[in-house]
Amino acid sequence: MFDRIAPVYDAMNRLMTAGLDRRWRAETAAAVVRPGDRVLDACCGTGDLAVACARAGGKITGLDFSERMLARARRKSSEVEWVQGDALALPFESGSFDAATVGFGVRNLADLEAGLVELRRVLRPGGRLAPFYRVWFDRIVPLLGKILPGGGAYTYLPASVRRFPGPEDLVKLMRSAGFGETGYRLFAGGIVALHTGVAE
Ligand SMILES: C[S@@+](CC[C@H](N)C(=O)[O-])C[C@H]1O[C@@H](n2cnc3c(N)ncnc32)[C@H](O)[C@@H]1O
Repeated sequence: MFDRIAPVYDAMNRLMTAGLDRRWRAETAAAVVRPGDRVLDACCGTGDLAVACARAGGKITGLDFSERMLARARRKSSEVEWVQGDALALPFESGSFDAATVGFGVRNLADLEAGLVELRRVLRPGGRLAPFYRVWFDRIVPLLGKILPGGGAYTYLPASVRRFPGPEDLVKLMRSAGFGETGYRLFAGGIVALHTGVAE
């Protein structure tokens, strides 16, 4: 599915967030990235969050399993290391990163709990995680699929995208996966939630 929507992904994102996603990405990077940090941006897609993390001074690895999304990401930065791989079986040693981010990607993980555990594994103890996601995605997508050019691609969604926990539930799942100091902020009147946690 993501290979198929790669050509329209950035335009759809700007439209669906009225351009606010740029600010959310900068805030996400500011929340967890310190200069010199080794940072994993998992489910990096076309790379905008990875690039925001690089601007915050991190040494970034962007990972996605869609080669077409990665092809677009590669055009945006040659400083970021772009890796094709599965977020549920990350091709990195345990404790390899100081921080990890996931932009609009946790919804797409076929197994959210396993994904969080895997992110915890590749972070060093004390490493910071910041995923953000659209809280109401499942309600607005059918509408956008009808009205936006190319939006039809979004009407085909895996079941995992439709059944997603609310912000409080995601906090609980992060705790079960081994994160402490968990919390979240809501953006744009509660449309988007940015969670943070520290690997224990
Ligand atoms: C909604 S896009 C988000 C892209 C980008 N992070 C952003 O902020 O715009 C979700 C991405 O997650 C990727 N993805 C989903 N499951 C994955 C997995 N198990 N491993 C790697 N990438 C995955 C998809 O290929 C897609 O590029």
